[in-house]
Amino acid sequence: MHDPIAEIPYVAEADDTQYRVIHLPNQVWKCSPIAALENLFDNAHHHYVHTLLGDRGSPEPLKPEVIQETDDGIYFKSDMRNHTTSLQRNVWGIEDDEIILDREFIWHMPFFARITLRLPNGLRNVTLILFSPISKSETLWTNIVFRNDSANPSATAEDIIKLGLAIGAEDQAILETLHLNVPLEPKMQQHMATDKPGIIMRRKFSDLLRLHEEVENSPNA
Ligand SMILES: [Fe+2]
Repeated sequence: MHDPIAEIPYVAEADDTQYRVIHLPNQVWKCSPIAALENLFDNAHHHYVHTLLGDRGSPEPLKPEVIQETDDGIYFKSDMRNHTTSLQRNVWGIEDDEIILDREFIWHMPFFARITLRLPNGLRNVTLILFSPISKSETLWTNIVFRNDSANPSATAEDIIKLGLAIGAEDQAILETLHLNVPLEPKMQQHMATDKPGIIMRRKFSDLLRLHEEVENSPNA
């Protein structure tokens, strides 16, 4: 192992007593961590990949409010039209069948992401997701949830874990069908508008490899 190239990002919620923490069980996914990150920041995928998130009846994604490159990643503000499920209504305290989910995403290079949901009832649900490459064909999925309802928990940890695992399993199922080697050169694949964060990611990974004098694997490797 080499020295770390970056500090572990600070998570303010971990020091805030308003928040409780729920650890989901780690899982090994047979996919590329870059593909998994790109999927997370693709605001069209929910309506097609997920039955437990998004809105298959109105799958056109909302235009992101912000896609901003940062020193170590991306800040992405992108709300989502969402047809709720009973588990969502229970875990997030939603009463309506339809809701626009207020969502903020932050990517810290290389493989750390945080998603903040702000629900109308004041609940903040912060999910940390790490896609850690553990072999050439395996990624360790780590998912940790912070919620600002420690004084009066509004859902059981069991249900919070159940929802996170169910949504994660839908991502895993599609990601494991993709090629393990993601080409960093955007021209190697076709793209659509919602791939913009992913294209920024590929450029930043290319820059990172160059900075550390590493070479990308052949696309066919
Ligand atoms: Fe997803």
